Amino acid sequence: FAAGPSTKERSFIAIKPDGVHRGMISNIISRFEQKGYKLVGIKVIVPGMDLAKAHYAEHEGKPFFNKLTSFLTSGPVVAMVWEGKEVIKYGRTMIGATNPLASAPGTIRGDFCVDMGRNMIHGSDGPESAQREIALWFQPSEIAEYESATQSWVY
Ligand code: PPS
Repeated sequence: FAAGPSTKERSFIAIKPDGVHRGMISNIISRFEQKGYKLVGIKVIVPGMDLAKAHYAEHEGKPFFNKLTSFLTSGPVVAMVWEGKEVIKYGRTMIGATNPLASAPGTIRGDFCVDMGRNMIHGSDGPESAQREIALWFQPSEIAEYESATQSWVY
């Protein structure tokens, strides 16, 4: 068992409507699961505009804000909380760069996406945003505390 960064770190990861419509839910979940991360919260939701605006609040006023919030509210989103060592930072590595054409092959956006407005997945960009986004999308009772049987083979 490795000491160091917390194995209880959590990140908010959301599959956006393009990912759901394109049938990428299981592929994306598999990647996080196979890495060794633990799924502790999941729901399918068509977010309302209030939720979308709150989620992207820090980008209000930017030229892409309306497009971004309209897109998020246009269909189903798979909202998730993933837990594990450095899941915030490494989750972003697995997702790839914001612009899919600048994302390395092997990343989710690098493998499946072309356009910035259809980049399939969101991941928290730091501990504060992770905490804020998890609280925005999930009630505490919707997050499961459990030990997974394979955990001792991951750490
Ligand atoms: S910024 O300005 O650098 O802070 O923006 P960035 O962190 O790169 O992106 C913030 C979110 O906006 C999305 N985004 C866009 N969507 C559509 N069109 C354009 N041009 C665009 N530029 C940025 C980007 O994907 C981020 O959303 P998430 O859901 O976090 O990926």
